[in-house]
Amino acid sequence: MDSKLQVLYSAQQIEQRVTELGKQIDADYKDEPLVVVGVLKGSFLFMADLVRAIKKDVRCDFLRVSSYENDKSSGVVRMDFDLTQSIEGDNLLLIEDIVDTGRTLAFLKEHLHGKKPKSLKVCSLLYKDIGIDNRHLADYVGFEIPNHFVVGYGLDSEGLYRSLPYIGYFPR
Ligand code: XMP
Ligand code: MG
Repeated sequence: MDSKLQVLYSAQQIEQRVTELGKQIDADYKDEPLVVVGVLKGSFLFMADLVRAIKKDVRCDFLRVSSYENDKSSGVVRMDFDLTQSIEGDNLLLIEDIVDTGRTLAFLKEHLHGKKPKSLKVCSLLYKDIGIDNRHLADYVGFEIPNHFVVGYGLDSEGLYRSLPYIGYFPR
């Protein structure tokens, strides 16, 4: 473990919160069919755990966007690859790793609404409080965090740290 990396949420805290989110999602969708769409790459561990915490059977799909370059948001969201199957009339739950400026989610929501799903909700593992009130962009949030650059549990710094089982940050 990198000595400067501080643990923000342990694997156990994450597991507990993911279990709660799964229960809430099951209660909200009841018998409605659900398509869970992960935003790669950052959401891959969260999505893997969340779909197992959701007890109903769900369809899983992925898309990929990028906006960060060298740990800074470039401001431009690029669709690297899109869904390949129709989601028209489906209940969609989009899974993100983190809401920061909110640009990625605003872009993705507009893009996905264009595909005419029956409903579209967002579940983000993290919501970063950077002083902009973007909280409404996500319907479910795992943890609200201060303005730190975080890594682990899917989140990376220049491609590294994704496989850590906890969420950590580098104190400034
Ligand atoms: P926006 O600004 O569009 O950013 O809400 C969302 C995307 O930016 C990445 N991001 C981070 N990745 N640690 C990371 O590893 C962070 O602290 C962080 N903040 C933003 C992430 O890919 C997210 O989907
Ligand atoms: Mg991301």
